[in-house]
Amino acid sequence: MTEVPNITLNNGVEIPQFGYGVFQVPPERTSAAVLEAFAAGYRHIDTAQMYRNEEGVGRALAESGLARDEVFVTTKLNNGAHGYQRAIAALDQSLGTMRLDYVDLFLIHWPLPRQDRYVETWKAFEKLLADGKARAIGVSNFQPAHLERLAMATEVVPAVNQIELHPRLTQHELRKYHAKHGIATEAWSPIAKGRVLEHPTLQGLADKYGKTAAQVVLRWHIQIGNIVFPKTSSPERMRENIDVFDFELDPDDVAAIEALDDRHRTGPDPDTFDMTG
Ligand SMILES: NC(=O)c1ccc[n+]([C@@H]2O[C@H](COP(=O)([O-])OP(=O)(O)OC[C@H]3O[C@@H](n4cnc5c(N)ncnc54)[C@H](OP(=O)(O)O)[C@@H]3O)[C@@H](O)[C@H]2O)c1
Repeated sequence: MTEVPNITLNNGVEIPQFGYGVFQVPPERTSAAVLEAFAAGYRHIDTAQMYRNEEGVGRALAESGLARDEVFVTTKLNNGAHGYQRAIAALDQSLGTMRLDYVDLFLIHWPLPRQDRYVETWKAFEKLLADGKARAIGVSNFQPAHLERLAMATEVVPAVNQIELHPRLTQHELRKYHAKHGIATEAWSPIAKGRVLEHPTLQGLADKYGKTAAQVVLRWHIQIGNIVFPKTSSPERMRENIDVFDFELDPDDVAAIEALDDRHRTGPDPDTFDMTG
């Protein structure tokens, strides 16, 4: 079975660099999909309160026979649950839904800068960390200005920032900021939802390495140090996606993928996104 390397977060907690994301996996399909992912060697699951499928993640974990400390579980705070007390209550609800005593990583899903409550929310996250309900805490979709606000007003540096990142949005500046401040980069939509795979550069590299374009892109993430958790409903693709530890891209090819960046977002802009739910 594939050996997935760990990345050590800034508080010493280890996270498998490759995981399985369950965004848009239907709730009634989630436990079966997560069990398939476990069978394919995945030991890191990325869910969110917003995905409405935490129950299936918890059920799969219970049914898998895996020990709790063999699987890394991330969930994220719902946009409607910003604020100190609400954030505390929201994680308690997730733990109840998943039937877990703790999550490995709890993230603020979106900063929602127009609401301007993420500093207060982060103070609740610090309490959840201190209480052992989350082994690590982090953020998602934070821009440098949002990270700077946290640095000025709070104590704990986020362990990760989970951001949209793929060959058409390589996030060079934000990755530099993360490296400087000890924040690990998690890449969401790592294969741009499958929409980048026809690109001739990626097709050419797939031919060169005898791999698929998806594997080339995922390998690129691994080599530049990102944590990834591509989503697929297909067990074949689960096995394909994680099978990226038996080849290495040449530095020129890493650079060629980096050069595909045209700042194309598949999702919302964090500076303006304000949806609650
Ligand atoms: N923090 C955030 O705001 C945020 C936002 C979005 C996503 N995420 C996280 O990131 C994870 C992944 O992102 P994502 O689901 O948006 O995008 P993604 O992983 O880049 O792409 C998923 C899409 O690609 C297809 N696909 C998967 N493997 C493939 C392969 N080997 N060849 C061709 N197509 C393939 C899937 O289709 P099939 O299912 O049909 O295979 C699905 O349509 C999510 O599950 C979630 O955990 C976080």
